[in-house]
Amino acid sequence: MLERKDLLGLIDATAEEITAILDLAQQYKDRIKQGEKKMSYLEGKTVTVLFYENSTRTRTSFEQAAKYLGATTINIVAGNSSVAKGETLVDTGKTLDAQKNDFIIMRHPMGGAPYLLAKTVRAGVLNAGDGINEHPTQALLDMLTMREHFGTLKGLKVAILGDIKHSRVAKSNLFALKTMGAEVYMYAPQTLIPTGLDKLGAKICSSREEALDNADVVMGLRIQLERQQAGNFPSLGEYAANYGVDEKLLALAKPNAIVLHPGPVNRGVELTSGVIDHEQSRIEDQVLSGVAVRMAVLTLLNEYREYQKNGGNKQ
Ligand code: CP
Repeated sequence: MLERKDLLGLIDATAEEITAILDLAQQYKDRIKQGEKKMSYLEGKTVTVLFYENSTRTRTSFEQAAKYLGATTINIVAGNSSVAKGETLVDTGKTLDAQKNDFIIMRHPMGGAPYLLAKTVRAGVLNAGDGINEHPTQALLDMLTMREHFGTLKGLKVAILGDIKHSRVAKSNLFALKTMGAEVYMYAPQTLIPTGLDKLGAKICSSREEALDNADVVMGLRIQLERQQAGNFPSLGEYAANYGVDEKLLALAKPNAIVLHPGPVNRGVELTSGVIDHEQSRIEDQVLSGVAVRMAVLTLLNEYREYQKNGGNKQ
């Protein structure tokens, strides 16, 4: 059980909470691998997926997770809903609450939007990415993939390279990996590193070599073309040549290192195709970790809802 109504970020997640999510997610991942896709932990519950931004992985894996758990799922594409007629987020939330939704999974371009929704609705709110703030379930699925490979997160050197400034994935990973005892090294052009990350515990590197040397995990982040202001770097070609990771650079990491990327990947920009398709790449495995982690979060939040409904008595 997670003693929270919502999962909005990992900035305040404890090691116990993260461990509980990863332990249950590992069980779900093993069960899915064995072909089990019909469970009943969320039978009778309604999960609404409300996305104001594009998505492939997060949207489909949340929907899959809810369905595997036996919930009824509803999909709202903001462009096709009354949002396009000017309805506010708060009024959309009130409508979904009146329909007795149990969970709302929201992606929104504005940082903090899920916090506003969570304050407004009785439903549990799960942040599926808010602006450049956080993407908690992405970091949890990254950590599940790491923990499955290494058996632990403690002491790992995780090198994150790419568009860190615009990355909610980088922030959620930094918060949670530090909580779990890993070390986070970051490298990007100065223009793509926000100030203050070192104060949050990241080691800001001055070269790719420094970031990758003896790393356990090499994580590429997408250059977010839709969020770039002109002048962050000269061109994608120059970015790839000076900041991207190829197989020669990957060889600086530990022999049993793994490669991660949250997707979607700009092939040949942040990582070469040789790295994306390398035997050390776990990018495809991350996708299954995503379904399992989202199942675990929904289950643990639902247990708390049931606990509260029963007046705080465990069933
Ligand atoms: N990693 C991630 O959030 O991917 P999508 O944008 O496809 O959901």
